[in-house]
Amino acid sequence: MTRTVYVNGEYLPEDQAKVSIFDRGFLMADGVYEVTSVLDGKLVDFDGHAVRLQRSLDELHMAAPISKEDLLAVHRELLRLNDVTEGMVYLQITRGAPDDRDFVFPDAETTPATVVLFTQNKPGLANSPEAKSGMKIISIEDMRWGRRDIKTVQLLYPSMGKMMAKKAGADDAWMVQDGYVTEGTSNNAYIVKGNKIITRALSNDILHGITRAAVLRYAQEAQMEVEERNFTIDEAKEADEAFITSASTFVMPVVEIDGVSLGEGVPGRVAPRLREIYLDESRKAAV
Ligand code: PDD
Repeated sequence: MTRTVYVNGEYLPEDQAKVSIFDRGFLMADGVYEVTSVLDGKLVDFDGHAVRLQRSLDELHMAAPISKEDLLAVHRELLRLNDVTEGMVYLQITRGAPDDRDFVFPDAETTPATVVLFTQNKPGLANSPEAKSGMKIISIEDMRWGRRDIKTVQLLYPSMGKMMAKKAGADDAWMVQDGYVTEGTSNNAYIVKGNKIITRALSNDILHGITRAAVLRYAQEAQMEVEERNFTIDEAKEADEAFITSASTFVMPVVEIDGVSLGEGVPGRVAPRLREIYLDESRKAAV
C-alpha cells in the first residue's frame, strides 16, 4: 500500500512528496524531529512530544510553523488515511529551503520551514518478541555534539553506533562519555539494583526522553526507588537488570552488555513489569 504522507500542508502519496535539494535539513541537518508511538490507533503522550518539539525549535531559534492543535489534527488524519493502529508517526521540521547553500540562517520571512510527517505501520509493536528475550548491547564512545537535549536530525553517529552493534552481533550500543554511560543510540539507558532504578540525570548530554519521564513517574508510583545519577559500564555489567526506553521500543530489557550476561541472562522482574505498566497507562491516556 502506498503511504499517504504530509508535506507543507498537503497530503500526498509518498512517491509524489518532494522537498527541495536546497532544504537545510538535507544540506546542514538543520532540523528537528519527533517520533510519537501509536497504540490502538491513538497517539501516546502527544503533549509531551509537542512540548519537547517546541523546546527544540526554541533552542535552534526556529519559529514554530504549525500550531499544536493543527499538528495533532495532521497526526490523526495520517493515522486515519493510512489505517494505522500500532506503530509510529515521524515528524520533521527543518529551517526550509533558501535559494542557495549558505551557512547563514535564511530569513524566516522569506524562507518558510519545511514540515514533513509520515506514519510507520508496525502491527505487533507492543507484543515485540524482543521484549521477551531481551537485547544485547555493546558500549561505544559517545562522539556526538554537545547539545543532545535538542532532538535534531543529525543522526550519523547514532546510525554508525547501530552498525557497530550489528557488526558485533548485538542489538544496540550504549554510548560512554568520560567513563559514564550517556544513553543508547536512540533510547535512554537504565540499570536496576534491587528495587532501585538508576539512570543518568537530565542535562545537555542526553535527550530528555518522553518515555523516560513517564516510566520514572510510573516507577515511583509503584513504590520503586529512582536514582538519577551517572553509572559506568562496569557497574551496569554487575547490575541485576538493565533496560532502555523510547517511543519506538517502550521499555525493553537488556540482558547482555559487552558479552557479559546480566543476572540469569534473561529479562528480570523490574523491566517487564515497567513495560506492562507503561503500555497499560499509555493506552489509557492516548489521544
Ligand atoms: N529516539 N535518546 C535518544 C538519543 C533518542 O534518539 C531517543 C528517541 C530517546 C528516547 O526518547 P523518547 O522516549 O522521547 O522516544 C533517547 C527516537 C525514537 C528515534 O530516533 O527514532
